[in-house]
Amino acid sequence: MPGPRVWGKYPCRSPHSTDCPGAMWWLLLWGVLQACPTRGSLLLAQELPQQLTSPGYPEPYRKGQESSTDIKAPEGFAVSLIFQDFDLEPSQDCAGDSVTISGSGSDPSQFCGQQGSPLGRPPGQREFISSGRSLRLTFRTQPSSENRTAHLHKGFLALYQTVAVNYSQPISEASRGSEAINAPGDNPAKVQNHCQEPYYQAAAAGALTCATPGTWKDRQDGEEVLQCMPVCGRPVTPIAQNQTTLGSSRAKLGNFPWQAFTSIHGRGGGALLGDRWILTAAHTIYPKDSVSLRKNQSVNVFLGHTAIDEMLKLGNHPVHRVVVHPDYRQNESHNFSGDIALLELQHSIPLGPNVLPVCLPDNETLYRSGLLGYVSGFGMEMGWLTTELKYSRLPVASREACNAWLQKRQRPEVFSDNMFCVGDETQRPSVCQGDSGSVYVVWDDHAHHWVATGIVSWGIGCGEGYDFYTKVLSYVDWIKGVMNGKN
Ligand SMILES: *[C@@H]1O[C@H](CO)[C@@H](O)[C@H](O)[C@H]1NC(C)=O
Ligand SMILES: *[C@@H]1O[C@H](CO)[C@@H](O)[C@H](O)[C@H]1NC(C)=O
Ligand SMILES: *[C@@H]1O[C@H](CO)[C@@H](O)[C@H](O)[C@H]1NC(C)=O
Ligand SMILES: *[C@@H]1O[C@H](CO)[C@@H](O)[C@H](O)[C@H]1NC(C)=O
Ligand SMILES: *[C@@H]1O[C@H](CO)[C@@H](O)[C@H](O)[C@H]1NC(C)=O
Ligand SMILES: *[C@@H]1O[C@H](CO)[C@@H](O)[C@H](O)[C@H]1NC(C)=O
Ligand SMILES: *[C@@H]1O[C@H](CO)[C@@H](O)[C@H](O)[C@H]1NC(C)=O
Repeated sequence: MPGPRVWGKYPCRSPHSTDCPGAMWWLLLWGVLQACPTRGSLLLAQELPQQLTSPGYPEPYRKGQESSTDIKAPEGFAVSLIFQDFDLEPSQDCAGDSVTISGSGSDPSQFCGQQGSPLGRPPGQREFISSGRSLRLTFRTQPSSENRTAHLHKGFLALYQTVAVNYSQPISEASRGSEAINAPGDNPAKVQNHCQEPYYQAAAAGALTCATPGTWKDRQDGEEVLQCMPVCGRPVTPIAQNQTTLGSSRAKLGNFPWQAFTSIHGRGGGALLGDRWILTAAHTIYPKDSVSLRKNQSVNVFLGHTAIDEMLKLGNHPVHRVVVHPDYRQNESHNFSGDIALLELQHSIPLGPNVLPVCLPDNETLYRSGLLGYVSGFGMEMGWLTTELKYSRLPVASREACNAWLQKRQRPEVFSDNMFCVGDETQRPSVCQGDSGSVYVVWDDHAHHWVATGIVSWGIGCGEGYDFYTKVLSYVDWIKGVMNGKN
């Protein structure tokens, strides 16, 4: 059967397999429930919201205790915190029991009372964002004169996570590199005049004269702030290209730092562009032959590792917007034209050795036949789904060879100029179900970076002959338009 390389046709097999990310999710959420604050404890904010509760929550809290917790984000990022449940004894000016948040820009703010009640000063649904990298939460309760075993207040449950600092905001304390907990509010943010290399680089000087005046200014002291742009196509741990084996191999951490794992109708892949976009195939979102599929499928995106279970632990990156190319026709099963889509993530992703974007092609020469490139993915291999990222080294094939190969098999599939083919008639290992949306990359000798020239789109069977890819070069204008907010 020819067909879209989506994994959606396969049923979930075992409760332990990562085939069912829904089930996995629950395990993960339950796994992070117990983060009890103690005096001076330090928590690291991650992408997935983590929970922080008062000691013993949801049992009533003890009187006469004090604990404070610092939550710290990675360099260049901030902490966001929201109270999901809040129930403290109300008092005048919160002089009795209270929760104090400091380091969020505004003066230390004290809260007490119950969510939704006019008594005291409950925090409501507001989101606290740290002005620097860390936020301190202090929980203080007054000693009780009486022995009230049956006192009725549960305390609090807060969710916290890392959020990206808007480009136009100062990178603030990002690069100070101190291991100690920065006492929030102690020092006003110092603007650093360098970007976190090699993952980011300063935008060209000219770019700072921006169309929207004031955007590059630090709001607090008016100093000019550097704009740090993601660096594409330069893995810190590049693949060893001197290897001679052609078959499929297991990728090392950081070889393909742009690789995304998606779970939409089934497993798929994608590649990070910039720090907020995933390039993928349209058919992973709207599969061909999808009569029975749910319309409102959730879109899950994972990054940052070569092992699926580790990626799941790192957390799902919520998707803000899905943009499918207008040429894509879900109901035309033999025409994969326009098989390209972009997923805009809700938050920018902190770049690092295991999460880096890939570059876009700018030249037809990156498609010359015989050029060797790499395709990576979490697709099927020998009938099994892999749990580790695999890659194959394969040559760009000539259009003539692929046309002849299709004709010989009397295939009705459309092989348009906006596609190209990869592989070798004699070579076995290639892409398969589950690899859809992953990218084929080649090394650009002039620019010295890796370029995603193709997106795994369709093929006939697995592991024989040629595979057909969306030719990214044909869609670069569309991609840039969408990413710049023009589409
Ligand atoms: C208060 O409670 C503690 C332990 O819960 C108990 O040992 C003590 O006797 C109580 N005091 C009064 C005055 O009830
Ligand atoms: C960044 O901040 C500026 C000014 O506050 C705002 O206009 C812009 O929408 C923000 N961008 C993002 C991506 O949040
Ligand atoms: C490939 O190159 C790396 C370093 O560049 C070296 O460590 C490795 O031994 C080489 N492998 C082969 C098969 O030559
Ligand atoms: C799909 O989701 C949207 C927004 O979440 C909602 O408005 C719509 O009712 C949903 N449709 C179905 C069929 O569930
Ligand atoms: C395939 O789809 C594209 C885009 O929708 C369309 O322009 C083209 O004519 C179609 N080709 C065939 C042979 O149907
Ligand atoms: C696909 O859908 C479009 C619009 O809904 C329609 O015009 C077209 O005829 C359909 N094509 C096929 C092959 O069913
Ligand atoms: C494409 O690359 C070739 C060879 O490096 C070069 O001569 C040509 O100018 C490039 N074209 C563009 C549009 O950059």
